[in-house]
Amino acid sequence: MSELVFEGTTYEVPPGNTVLEALEVAGVTIPSSCRSGVCQSCLLRAVEGTPPATAQAGLRDTLRQQGYFLACCCKPDGSLEVVRPNDAGLRHRARVARVRSLNATVAELTLECDAAFEYRPGQFANIALTCGTVRSYSLASVPTEDPHLHMHIARMPGGIVSGWVHDSAKEGDFVDLLGPHGNCFYTVGNFGQTLVLAGTGTGLAPLYGIARDALRHGHTGDIHLFHGSIRQEGLYLVEELRALSHTHSNLHYYPCVLEGPADAQTHVGALDAHVTSTLSTLRGSRVFLCGHPDFVKMMQKKTFLLGAAMKDIFADSFLPAKTVTA
Ligand code: FES
Repeated sequence: MSELVFEGTTYEVPPGNTVLEALEVAGVTIPSSCRSGVCQSCLLRAVEGTPPATAQAGLRDTLRQQGYFLACCCKPDGSLEVVRPNDAGLRHRARVARVRSLNATVAELTLECDAAFEYRPGQFANIALTCGTVRSYSLASVPTEDPHLHMHIARMPGGIVSGWVHDSAKEGDFVDLLGPHGNCFYTVGNFGQTLVLAGTGTGLAPLYGIARDALRHGHTGDIHLFHGSIRQEGLYLVEELRALSHTHSNLHYYPCVLEGPADAQTHVGALDAHVTSTLSTLRGSRVFLCGHPDFVKMMQKKTFLLGAAMKDIFADSFLPAKTVTA
């Protein structure tokens, strides 16, 4: 049993339990979403004691050095005194500038944020509503091209944040924004390298940002962007991507649906098979995979087997938010 001091109250963390679980059992609300160490919405800071290294995996060095850790991954092996990260400078106030529909189930949320929010296209940020619910969304915008932040948000059954975006968010509303997080983004260099981007659903958001970021940096190698959906109506930004590929001869756009009917330029079939049959080898390529965790996991294996080096495969799995059951 480890002792945990939080906001002046002492709690006990049973062996094998996380700080997040112990606080929730005690009735303390801590923001959380993935509960898997990915979204970083459960960030806390240790002011006494040392959190285990596993609770700091994936955090920036500056955060680790200040004692920040992820409550959902922290099974303490000693006493800890922890505080909320309110003073971390990680929380930004963002104003809703626009909500527009991209298709029947996906909306683009445009947020106006202060200049201190520096990010790379393809990273993700956490939206925190005043009710305390936090959800992660990838950034589709490019700082030098888009004055504001763009996120593609699919309506989820019972989704608190996605429901708010689709049903009630309006220009002038405010949310808190935390981040950015993630390492699935374009890094400048090796401009002739082939880039392969593949994603399902709103997995297009980070890929759209990464492709445009590569183009604006003058990437000269081929950029193959595959976007998959179950049916044609699930695709979006189709005209924008076709226009972009007409403007940039090295950008190749491959819309793909699992079930027809589809227009003449859209492939019907499984996205993974479309990628592997279109590109015979990925040796020397840089690969970005985004979307459903099963797709990302499968494609990590397939792109590796096609010759991509592990160090050149970047992935962003869209883990579903997990709720606690009593
Ligand atoms: S990282 Fe802890 S809830 Fe997502």
